[in-house]
Amino acid sequence: MAADSAATLPARAPGVPRHVAIVMDGNGRWARRRFMPRVFGHKYGMETVVRVIEDCSRRGVEFLTLYAFSSENWKRPEEEVSGLMNLVLVGVSKYLARLAGDGVRIRVVGDRSAVSERVRQAWHEAEERTRDNTGITLTVAFNYGGRWDIVQACRRAMAEGITAEQLTEDVLGRHMALAHAPDPDLFIRTGGEVRISNFLLWQIAYAEFYFTDCLWPDFDGAELDKAFAAYASRERRFGAVPAPATASQPASA
Ligand code: FPP
Repeated sequence: MAADSAATLPARAPGVPRHVAIVMDGNGRWARRRFMPRVFGHKYGMETVVRVIEDCSRRGVEFLTLYAFSSENWKRPEEEVSGLMNLVLVGVSKYLARLAGDGVRIRVVGDRSAVSERVRQAWHEAEERTRDNTGITLTVAFNYGGRWDIVQACRRAMAEGITAEQLTEDVLGRHMALAHAPDPDLFIRTGGEVRISNFLLWQIAYAEFYFTDCLWPDFDGAELDKAFAAYASRERRFGAVPAPATASQPASA
């Protein structure tokens, strides 16, 4: 099948992360402040999702991974869970053509066995329709948990007959749900909480973290630029020591 769009990404400016992962928190509080039900916040959160995909794409981000529904979100009231499931159907029918036309490649990770056939079908359609696209890769983590991911990777490796001696970080990494992407460079959480909440536990070993009080529906290009500026100011050492200072670049005190 030909790609839905030949659109490719602009060159990534220095300081722009290659892979951004986001915990989109604060929809409920955003809605409550407007005396509206929580699902109203998720609906606006969906608009933010589309805007942030486009903002990341314009800045040359190659991979964007969003935490849309965690393994633990089933504990929410039935009305909210079914609202979120319905939002998948609405989102795919409303935005898939636009995203596909922009060259976005969509992938979905998480345990699909527990979601309805209709939701599974919507995700399948999104993945198939954008399979040959060459723009930003959007990975939606849906019914996803970092611990689930590690267990499913071990199970798949064992089912392939990989022995304990053969199991290395590289081998396990190839069985993780995000094997198609490099590890995230920048992990953003909106909504003011400072925790990981079982997102991408394996993959964020060396990610830079950025937490903001901004509620997800209010997160826009300016907020994204603040996160990128914070990222650009960090020195990433991956466990090594700082690079030695050169004559023109004295060591800081
Ligand atoms: C957390 O905010 C948000 C979620 C659990 C759902 C995120 C979903 C969206 C942004 C809609 C887009 C969906 C898809 C399918 C891409 P919260 O409800 O915990 O907010 P609170 O902390 O203010 O209560």
